[in-house]
Amino acid sequence: MGLTGAGKTTIGKALARRLGREFMDSDHVISDRTGVSVREIFEVEGEQGFRNREQAVICELATGKDRVLATGGGGILREATRECLKANCLVIYLYAKPEEIFKRIGHDHTRPMLDGNPLKRLQDLYQLRDPLYREVAHHVVETQGRSHQSLQDILAWLSTQGIQAMSPSSSPTPSSAPSLTPST
Ligand code: S3P
Repeated sequence: MGLTGAGKTTIGKALARRLGREFMDSDHVISDRTGVSVREIFEVEGEQGFRNREQAVICELATGKDRVLATGGGGILREATRECLKANCLVIYLYAKPEEIFKRIGHDHTRPMLDGNPLKRLQDLYQLRDPLYREVAHHVVETQGRSHQSLQDILAWLSTQGIQAMSPSSSPTPSSAPSLTPST
């Protein structure tokens, strides 16, 4: 979990490779099932329509086994969704300051929550959501410009929870330290 642009997709995919697990992204599942983009769902059904779909998908995916799940940045807005996550998953909050995220993704126009003034929107989202992410998270990781350190931090924490990674060489594809720009 974390704000849009915090690195959920980049780090989540790298983590899934190291754990030998499937990577899933709630936004992608919603888009695949509806056949339209998240932005189109916002336009047609409004934010609450999207949140209804998001709640159902996250609560479904959260009960699955052997996967790494990235949620949309607003997935923690509903209490019911927070409860599904907390009860069924080891939840990791990828923390990044809004100013840092703006540097990474301020140019990206695919994110409806950042329409208008993206930096101001990110600052507002941060104020509202940081406490919610912290409420749900079992672990908080500070993300920097590159994902390698965050990944190592997560793997170290997971090992304290009894979840061991494969060595980088035995992962299905080579583990890398991709830049967090411009992925989410
Ligand atoms: C949203 C974040 C997006 C997507 C939707 C709403 C939000 O996901 O779910 O545009 O409310 O912050 P990412 O966090 O993957 O960008």
